[in-house]
Amino acid sequence: MNKALRKAVIAGNWKMNKTPNEAKALIEEMKPLVKDASCDVALCVPFIDIPAAIEAAKGSNIKIGAENVHFKSSGAYTGEVSAEMLKEAGVEYVVIGHSERRTYFGETDQTVNLRSLAALNAGLKAIICVGETLEQRELGYTETLLKYQTKMALTNVTKEQLKNVIIAYEPVWAIGTGVTATADQADEGNGYVRAAIAEAYGEDVAQSVTIQYGGSMNAGNADELVAKENVDGGLIGGASLKAPDFAKIVAAASK
Ligand code: PGA
Repeated sequence: MNKALRKAVIAGNWKMNKTPNEAKALIEEMKPLVKDASCDVALCVPFIDIPAAIEAAKGSNIKIGAENVHFKSSGAYTGEVSAEMLKEAGVEYVVIGHSERRTYFGETDQTVNLRSLAALNAGLKAIICVGETLEQRELGYTETLLKYQTKMALTNVTKEQLKNVIIAYEPVWAIGTGVTATADQADEGNGYVRAAIAEAYGEDVAQSVTIQYGGSMNAGNADELVAKENVDGGLIGGASLKAPDFAKIVAAASK
């Protein structure tokens, strides 16, 4: 099975939740619960929580990520944070192109590509999000859209850099709604992403890329989702704010 070639990654996406002190407390609670994971474990946290999160996670198997990154390395971009700043702070992962950023903050396929290149050039691991809306799914555009978003995000990304790329397939209709894609829908969506990577880089390369599912993944449905051939872990929102739930998802991906 090709799935065995890939490292599953369970990444929490805290969104705009937890103060630095709360971040520290949650990570302390999580550490013993996820210490035996065989998958990679990351928590992507608000910028302001990063130092406290890195301090709390020190010596554990939890890696810390950010939730966004700017594409310039410095300059007059008020309110933004560069990849070099994140790298120096000890960040290893960064979420790019989350649907909330696309919807509320004007993120486009072009800026997702620029942010991905900046992150990869700085040596960060990019978790690039793609996903269709319910309307796009109902119109039958899911495959076309996922392939387009994937290829656009990876424009000018080299085969070597692709080793630091994770794609998260997150159907917009499943994010924070409690409506999870069925395991077959998740597998199919992830399969479209893998096919797009194969078209751009070749089948062998595509088989080596970690592709997560995200969207209302929780302690109850993680087992079925991560067992699918094309689902290499998950990007977890709500359930990553509760240590026991997050630990169950990590355990599911460690089987
Ligand atoms: P959710 O969020 O797990 O709360 O649906 C997933 C995400 O936005 O990455």
